[in-house]
Amino acid sequence: MNEYDKYMKTCFKLAQKGTGKTSPNPLVGCVVLDSAGNIISTGYHKKYGENHAERDALLKLDKNAAKGGTLIVNLEPCNHFGKTPPCTDIIIEYGIKRVVISSNDTNPKAAGGIKRLQDAGIEVIQGVLEKEGNKLNEVFFTNINQKRTFVALKTATTIDGKIASSTGDSKWITSDKARKYAYKLRKQYDAILTSSSTVIADNPKMFHKNKIIIDRHLRCDFSSEIFKQGEIYLFTQKTHSECPEQPHIEFICSKDLSLQYILNELYNRKIMSVFVEAGGKLSGAFLKDGLIDKLYHFTAPKILNDNTAKSAFDGDSVSLVKFAKEFRLESIKKLEPDVLLTYTRF
Ligand SMILES: NC(=O)c1ccc[n+]([C@@H]2O[C@H](COP(=O)([O-])OP(=O)(O)OC[C@H]3O[C@@H](n4cnc5c(N)ncnc54)[C@H](OP(=O)(O)O)[C@@H]3O)[C@@H](O)[C@H]2O)c1
Repeated sequence: MNEYDKYMKTCFKLAQKGTGKTSPNPLVGCVVLDSAGNIISTGYHKKYGENHAERDALLKLDKNAAKGGTLIVNLEPCNHFGKTPPCTDIIIEYGIKRVVISSNDTNPKAAGGIKRLQDAGIEVIQGVLEKEGNKLNEVFFTNINQKRTFVALKTATTIDGKIASSTGDSKWITSDKARKYAYKLRKQYDAILTSSSTVIADNPKMFHKNKIIIDRHLRCDFSSEIFKQGEIYLFTQKTHSECPEQPHIEFICSKDLSLQYILNELYNRKIMSVFVEAGGKLSGAFLKDGLIDKLYHFTAPKILNDNTAKSAFDGDSVSLVKFAKEFRLESIKKLEPDVLLTYTRF
């Protein structure tokens, strides 16, 4: 237990207030203590393009108030000019004596913050609640370290793992409460991704600012609910000349519609995270290709007891349990009568 743990936990809470609004930037919160150790300011990164957490917190103060004080922040302060000037500048300018950090910034553009602070004579304490800090910014670190879009996938099933009956009836497996919680989760990610089959079967609205539809043969009806709101990226194997002019739809045409290709195209368009909501075939394909970073698995206390009902993951036959894809349980949340199990990549 570090003496700064409790302040770092406050930073995490503040940082989370920016969820869904800071991409491609990380979630960052900041607490400032005066030289006597009293909290004198807090701040967080509210939105992409706006002030970083450190600047947000310090600008609320008179310069002298923070002199000799401690600044706690969950990510290494940046040392570069981006949309805003370097955070290291304002920390030095305000006479901060000690900086406490959870995660180091692995973004080469922003790095060097710790060294700059140390060179200015500031004590830097690193790695406070680092595991939690890295988890909080799992999307950002996946983007920066692996140069790819983060994939979260949601399933809502019966106890026997079914997402729809054999006739395709799927409304509703989980409760209102669970579905509302899933709507909240969607907003944490840059876009929702679904399939032509799910659009055709369910005609879902899927409210979100960005939606991705994989529709290789242009089977979707453009008057479907999903097309009525948000910016749509539609991946198809048809050519541009075969795609109709549609406002708010960008057709991305390619013969190669592997999921890897799609994710690369999304990354190039600065879609840094996707929330996949599809049926068993597409979810099964994401699973098979090892592309799921996080799995939100909602389970309702119902059993269909029908082998022909649709499974959450529709894949190849697997002869031995040792070939099962494994995940690590991250959390369990009761959304009575349902339960949400959240898993991460092993
Ligand atoms: N309970 C839940 O969480 C949930 C969520 C969503 C949907 N659903 C249910 O799921 C059912 C639909 O499931 P489904 O299995 O038939 O369809 P699906 O998994 O949603 O989508 C399969 C379709 O995706 C397209 N696709 C593109 N790339 C693919 C790839 N690499 N691998 C597999 N498919 C790819 C194909 O359509 P094209 O050939 O047209 O491109 C394919 O037919 C519906 O009944 C819906 O109600 C349930």
